[in-house]
Amino acid sequence: IADVKGGPNEGLDRVGQTVVVMGWVRTLRLQSSVTFMEVNDGSCLSNMQCVLNPEAEGYDQVDSGSIVTGASVCVQGTIVESQGSKQKVELKVNKIVLVGQSDPSYPMQKKRATREFLRTKAHLRPRTNTFSAVARVRNALAYATHKFFQENGFVWVSSPIITASDCEGAGEQFCVTTLIPSSQEVTDSPVDGIPKTKDGLIDWSQDFFGKPAFLTVSGQLNAETYATALSDVYTFGPTFRAENSNTSRHLAEFWMIEPELAFADLNDDMACATAYLQYVVRHILENCKEDMEFFNTWIEKGIIDRLTDVAEKEFVQLTYTDAVELLLKTNKKFEFPVAWGCDLQSEHERYITEEAFGGCPVIIRDYPKRRKIVIWVYTNFVYFFQEIKAFYMRQNDDGKTVAAMDLLVPRVPSRALFQTLNYKLFTYRSLGFFFHIGQIGELVGGSQREERLGYLEYRLEELKLNKESYWWYLDLRRYGSVPHAGFGVGFERLVQFATGLENIRDTIPFPRSPGSAEF
Ligand code: 4AD
Ligand code: MG
Repeated sequence: IADVKGGPNEGLDRVGQTVVVMGWVRTLRLQSSVTFMEVNDGSCLSNMQCVLNPEAEGYDQVDSGSIVTGASVCVQGTIVESQGSKQKVELKVNKIVLVGQSDPSYPMQKKRATREFLRTKAHLRPRTNTFSAVARVRNALAYATHKFFQENGFVWVSSPIITASDCEGAGEQFCVTTLIPSSQEVTDSPVDGIPKTKDGLIDWSQDFFGKPAFLTVSGQLNAETYATALSDVYTFGPTFRAENSNTSRHLAEFWMIEPELAFADLNDDMACATAYLQYVVRHILENCKEDMEFFNTWIEKGIIDRLTDVAEKEFVQLTYTDAVELLLKTNKKFEFPVAWGCDLQSEHERYITEEAFGGCPVIIRDYPKRRKIVIWVYTNFVYFFQEIKAFYMRQNDDGKTVAAMDLLVPRVPSRALFQTLNYKLFTYRSLGFFFHIGQIGELVGGSQREERLGYLEYRLEELKLNKESYWWYLDLRRYGSVPHAGFGVGFERLVQFATGLENIRDTIPFPRSPGSAEF
């Protein structure tokens, strides 16, 4: 269908040609002498309107009610100019074949379903306009990602899914287990002395891998090994985090793009993140016009203007210290008080991106490496420090901050739904307000890496990490160390940012989050 209707004159140049369309019936309107059938094949948002007369071969299947919404069909016909106002051309059918029947229980009927409902039908939701458009834009963003890095001389490196190291040190890893029934005879007994689980299973993963193994939270450490040999590289693959956060911007399984630049500092890193983001946004504005128009109408009014701004305007850059000063200066009351050393909460990030800088992406850099915690003991205040930044971030000369950056984006603003469902306006708006629906916040997180062996060893000790297990990572600093930097882009957050969807669970075909691993 995209092949016929995707051109500049929406198919008029194809009038008179015979084509075959294979797809799924979206709607069927039977009139006395003619039947209109909308077929979609997923190649684009547009359906092909098929006009069926009783003379068409196979018409009896329409007549007998075998062809209904959801059925798969193969239709052959001639492209003709359409009399209707919704499309330029339609298909005058001379033959129709029912490929697969559809049961009357088909849940994807014409009536608009909520996205919550569609999440329970993840296997059928790609047949809706919204989810097919999301799938195509997601695909275009992945293509543009590879295109950007390839055009700029980066080498794509595959990082492992199973790993023994915790890159972020946040303890959010999923454990990999290798279960076998305890009754199964194990000949060269790798399982001696390993306790059985209560289900009579034996976990011999430690024997398998030689140590506890986990699903990766980030491919960065592995990417660094290739960056310090091939110069600029990037990874693009699935990552996993067992963070128990049921929010609209966290997934347990998400894809991450992680470039790593050799002979580069934090400024190079920020420039690369900016160029990358602008490139992929420009790519979808130019190549996904129909889908972007759809999002502009139905998901987020004004998204095309918002993204055009992102592609064209410079991003704001400021240090954490300046950001805190900005927050302290405003009259706005925050739920979480601001002080130098505090974590920026989502309300602070929202103020910075939405109010202080008028809705454009903001890069905050040079974060404190530790946070001061003050508690009241007996008669005194006592304080201690909590380390909050990853061990690999390069320490700045001030000794207090690290060369890390976060790229923050504003919340997805108005929803077109509000305009169409006025009576729900109050409820949706208030829900959005309380749960920060549509807030993406951090889209990119990156840093310059600590390339100095002594500093890195010291930092591992400070964070009480097991230095021995990082021997290979330390080797990179032992043999020809170079300043290098990189960042991670959450791919689903990028899709969210580029489509205006309020919930990250609608940006990946099969979302994984606490309590949901069906499909
Ligand atoms: O800030 P993070 O934790 O950084 C890293 O993992 C670094 N090792 C990246 C690097 O420098 N190579 O994660 C990077 C990005 C975040 O900015 C966010 O966009 C995304 O990954 N992200 C998530 N996306 C969806 N669900 C989650 N649970 C996410 N956690 C992080
Ligand atoms: Mg981060």
